[in-house]
Amino acid sequence: MTLDLPANDLSRVIEADRAHIWHHLLQHKPLEENDPRIIVEGKGINVWDASGKEYLDAVSGGVWTVNVGYGRESIANAVRDQLVKLNYFAQSAGSIPGSLFAEKLISKMPGMSRVYYVNSGSEANEKVFKMVRQIAHKRHGGKKHKILFRERDYHGSTIATISAGGQPERNAQYGPYTPGFVEVPHCCEYRAQWDVENYGERAADAIEEVILREGPETVGALCLEPVTAGGGVITPPEGYWERVQEICAKYEILLHIDEVVCGIGRTGKWFGYQQYGIKPDFVTMAKGVASGYAAIACMVTTEKVFEMFKDDASDPMNYFRDISTFGGCTAGPAAALENMRIIEEEGLLENTAAMGERLMANLHALMEKHAVIGDVRGKGLFCGAELVADRVSKEPVDEKLAQAVVAECGAQGVIIGVTNRSLPGLNNTLCLSPALIASPDDIDRITDAIDNALTKVFG
Ligand SMILES: Cc1ncc(COP(=O)(O)O)c(C=O)c1O
Repeated sequence: MTLDLPANDLSRVIEADRAHIWHHLLQHKPLEENDPRIIVEGKGINVWDASGKEYLDAVSGGVWTVNVGYGRESIANAVRDQLVKLNYFAQSAGSIPGSLFAEKLISKMPGMSRVYYVNSGSEANEKVFKMVRQIAHKRHGGKKHKILFRERDYHGSTIATISAGGQPERNAQYGPYTPGFVEVPHCCEYRAQWDVENYGERAADAIEEVILREGPETVGALCLEPVTAGGGVITPPEGYWERVQEICAKYEILLHIDEVVCGIGRTGKWFGYQQYGIKPDFVTMAKGVASGYAAIACMVTTEKVFEMFKDDASDPMNYFRDISTFGGCTAGPAAALENMRIIEEEGLLENTAAMGERLMANLHALMEKHAVIGDVRGKGLFCGAELVADRVSKEPVDEKLAQAVVAECGAQGVIIGVTNRSLPGLNNTLCLSPALIASPDDIDRITDAIDNALTKVFG
């Protein structure tokens, strides 16, 4: 199909967008005066906008999604072939790509065994919440139903997932929230809440304090990002995860790891939790699963959890009575299988680890030059640089200045991100998550653009 548009003139598209599109995450008033951003094409790590301007996309589609880069014909072909064979059937039946992708995925997740297909990260997380609640009803008289989440973490946009969200600016004005979700403190050592040597253990002990306050018999699960993403790219301090794991075991609390951002290679291993030796009960994933070539998200769990939902077949209520219509789309697993093949064949996990080190080294070098960088954090091709007005007081820069850095990078043809309307006063962390195919030159171009932008904005 060709678009019925005059060559190189997208004015109709822009007008239609202005007239009819309600964009995500945007205040629309400025679009009355300015054109909306329309991304027209992508190839490798680059995208082009409606004016023809080329950008290096250092955030993989804006929200750390396009892990294998743009323009992958082999994924498009796999999806096309599957769609003409069978596009859909409800996931109460199986499908060829559904089974084969589940087998492949589980081969990368020792200890896990069952895959539940859905179509967004929020939805995958909701499935876990429902399972935890059902387990509480089945085994604990409904009592062990509370779900702990962490300050600064994000788990999605639905009412239940914002009820499990630790970002006050994302949640504000959307209450009342779902009951039974309880916050635990964040673990960002740069914004330390305790003056201790063993910060990681101390931050994990704070989770135990919440459990004891709530009553361990009421707490069913703990939901955490392995590395907090939109809350400021927070890598866990040493000793944190070991202690978290001990606490969960001690109080029989199921551990739910939200891999929506870290999953499928972002940190240089298949999953972020594998960086820290975590043994989860539930893993949710979405964005990078098919790199945005098709909508697919997965909730993965253990055989032990799965067994709880089939142990008494004589009870008509004793199974997971849930469906996700589009969990039956076959394009998702077909794209995801090819996505994983590419990552393996092109050695993209290794590339991510190596390029991630280069990115961190470059950011540390920028920190020497620009006092405004207070902290740099990250794992693999998932990095953040927190901007502060003063290194001693750690006062965050005005978020308008952080946004000006993003705009300056854009003017130089590099798209970077910044924490966005998440934490009051703390939307000051630049976010970087280029595609896992990034080359040394790409990495240097990203940090050169930030270097220039920081000079321009802060002198
Ligand atoms: C860690 C994390 N979990 C869940 C979600 C929600 O995913 P979705 O937007 O696909 O519902 C996001 C989205 O940014 C996320 O970053």
